[in-house]
Amino acid sequence: MTTAQLPPTLPQVSWSRRHLLGLEELSAEEIRTALQCSAYFARCSASGEPPRPLLAGKTVANLFFEDSTRTRSSFSLAARRLGGEVLDFHASASSLSKGETILDTARTIEAMNVDALVVRHRTPGAPHLLAQNLQASVINAGDGPHEHPTQALLDMLTIQQHRGRIEGLTVALVGDIAHSRTARSNIWGLLRLGAHVILCGPATLVSRRWEALGVEVSYSLDEILPRCDVLNLLRIQFERQQARPFPSVREYAHLYAMNRQRLQRARPDVLIMAPGPINRGVEITADVADGSHSVILRQVTNGVAVRMAVLWLCLCVAAGESG
Ligand code: CP
Repeated sequence: MTTAQLPPTLPQVSWSRRHLLGLEELSAEEIRTALQCSAYFARCSASGEPPRPLLAGKTVANLFFEDSTRTRSSFSLAARRLGGEVLDFHASASSLSKGETILDTARTIEAMNVDALVVRHRTPGAPHLLAQNLQASVINAGDGPHEHPTQALLDMLTIQQHRGRIEGLTVALVGDIAHSRTARSNIWGLLRLGAHVILCGPATLVSRRWEALGVEVSYSLDEILPRCDVLNLLRIQFERQQARPFPSVREYAHLYAMNRQRLQRARPDVLIMAPGPINRGVEITADVADGSHSVILRQVTNGVAVRMAVLWLCLCVAAGESG
């Protein structure tokens, strides 16, 4: 067996957090550790090496009070692939309709000997409230427009895999920054790891207040395009908006959609990313979404590895059971 064929070795890391609530509170070192472990689980999956049952005897509950395809599925797969049990809670078919609060709901699920709650809720801070009141680990799977830490970790893992680094790269987050938890978590993570971050979109959706953190703000995609190593195209979240933030979807697409013409003016090795779900023809055209620069499905694949890493770190390493 050559060195290249040897199975990857479980990293020996230090991690003390039982909860993952956001990237704002993480140090650069902690983000690097999460990415190192994610890269390990991604290499295990790619090599076909079955992961060790690091979560054997642990139960992870998915508490999603908002819809999800990618995040919920990948947390379930991540826990199962590590030998854990998964309890799927469906808000729409639960006793919430009878007046039970989110806290009582979470305490009820926790009382079934659950070790971790993966929480998505439309209210910013909902996972923090649960973390303060429960013994179980709480992982934020998206709280309103606030944070989506595992999404940003999988975005950064994907950039690292394709560029070998984050530091010194120019990464543009394009679109609905105002309502995007993915944007917020990416801003914290990318800044900590030394990227140059550009926020780009209509003035109604991109606030200049981010400039205070050292982020560049631009209202012209065409102007920033030739400088970007990575373009992360965010969906317009109409469901979180009271009024339409621009005259028409057609005008938005004209100014901000990543299309073939714009791709020709971008760097030859530009990475096209999107957290998904994507709206083809709005923030990205179908040919670009499915084209050779796009790593959108690689992001989805990496989502499982990142969630394996986060569950292992918070449930095992933080408890002194690193395996
Ligand atoms: N990116 C993301 O969070 O997708 P889902 O809403 O499908 O989980």
